[in-house]
Amino acid sequence: MAKKSWEKRLGGKPDERMVDFVESLSVDERLYKYDIAGSIAHAQMLAEQKLITKAEFAAIKKGLIEIAGEIEAGKFKFDKSCEDIHMAIEAALVKKAGEAGKKLHTGRSRNDQVALDIRLWLRDEIEMMCGMITNLQKALLEQAGKYVNNVMCAYTHVQRAQPISIAGYLLSFVEQFERDRIRLINCSNIMNVSPLGSGAVAGSTLGLDRASTCKELGFEGISRNSLDAVSDRDFAAEFIFDCSLIMAHLSRLAEDLIMYSSTEFSFIKIDDCFCTSSSMMPQKKNPDALELIRGKCGTVYGALVAMLTILKAQPSGYNRDLQEDKTHIFSAADTASASLLMAEGIIGGVSFNTEKIAAELDDGFVDATALAEYLVLKGIAFREAHGIVGQLVAKCEKADKKLSELDMAEYKAACAKIDKDVYKSLGAANVAKSYMTEGSAGISESRKKITFWKKQLEKR
Ligand code: ARG
Repeated sequence: MAKKSWEKRLGGKPDERMVDFVESLSVDERLYKYDIAGSIAHAQMLAEQKLITKAEFAAIKKGLIEIAGEIEAGKFKFDKSCEDIHMAIEAALVKKAGEAGKKLHTGRSRNDQVALDIRLWLRDEIEMMCGMITNLQKALLEQAGKYVNNVMCAYTHVQRAQPISIAGYLLSFVEQFERDRIRLINCSNIMNVSPLGSGAVAGSTLGLDRASTCKELGFEGISRNSLDAVSDRDFAAEFIFDCSLIMAHLSRLAEDLIMYSSTEFSFIKIDDCFCTSSSMMPQKKNPDALELIRGKCGTVYGALVAMLTILKAQPSGYNRDLQEDKTHIFSAADTASASLLMAEGIIGGVSFNTEKIAAELDDGFVDATALAEYLVLKGIAFREAHGIVGQLVAKCEKADKKLSELDMAEYKAACAKIDKDVYKSLGAANVAKSYMTEGSAGISESRKKITFWKKQLEKR
């Protein structure tokens, strides 16, 4: 490997192991579009400031556009001795544009260049991921619309708790993913400042117009401190954290669907096209895609811990440790995006076994809380009511009965204030219709929330 033609400081050639060890081209190759956009904006500004001529800018721009075309067409020869995408593109430009190409790096360092490229890449990536979240929310909402009148059981501690609309269950995920989307937008807003002009660490003695490159590249403003701009990657850690929460939410959804599709539950059917079979057991239909979503959560959490650890105790200014950021940013983004796409597909193809769910819904005393609240309306203190219903449930369990199957005499014996109207508060189907609180998972609130979300998602 030849040493870089322009470098005169070091003697001899770098060790072969060194070349392999320090290169990041294999990882940061995918930044090429952003690197080229940043370089064109920088060169244009250099020409505006008369630091290069208009003709030199034209030659640089032409060369960079050609390089972009070659990379896109798969014709560009990536040479790892160039270290990274920034130097690979610059070296190619010098070959094409000669002297003009050698002027591109005026007033710039790879330190502010890479800080720029990651920001540009993340900005686009976040926009794409927000679109994927919206699509997943739309798929959940469509299913919610289909099943709003069907009742299922909500669980606490994986024990039957209270009856809800199936839509209420599905909408709980629309809410979780909405917060994920807002977090991503917030991350994008915080990092949306141009670091160009920060140079290696302290800025430049040349009269660079930072506002020009900032405007050209669509940033909200310019970074206020060059040391900070080239050395922090807090936004990368934040992005990976946002991806981690997306994965946490996806893994919860995946876990539910895996359980609900088991023979034991038989609440849902997952479309065959999202399942696999077994190489040995001919009867098997396995929810592998969901299990992989659950498993990939670990990949993204790993990236988060890696990113935080890379940042820890780095001395001020740029350090090469930072090069390791991209491996984890890309891994988190790719994994979360692929999982979002997969989840959208799976949700679209899920069907609920409403008859089976309804047939078993009244097992497990899911109307007990509603009965206690009925007693509250009859003037009984809630703690008292809780005790009365608890005893009634114990009695039913012994007699293998449901609460709705107790007769009036049995109710009167438990509490004289209970009247015939008690039966309207019993049974899961009745309870799911009678929730009064805003934001409940009952039928009428779920219907309202479906209308709310339809309007929200239409606007996007
Ligand atoms: N490839 C490096 C990175 O990703 C940028 C190069 C900065 N290198 C340097 N020696 N200053 O951070």
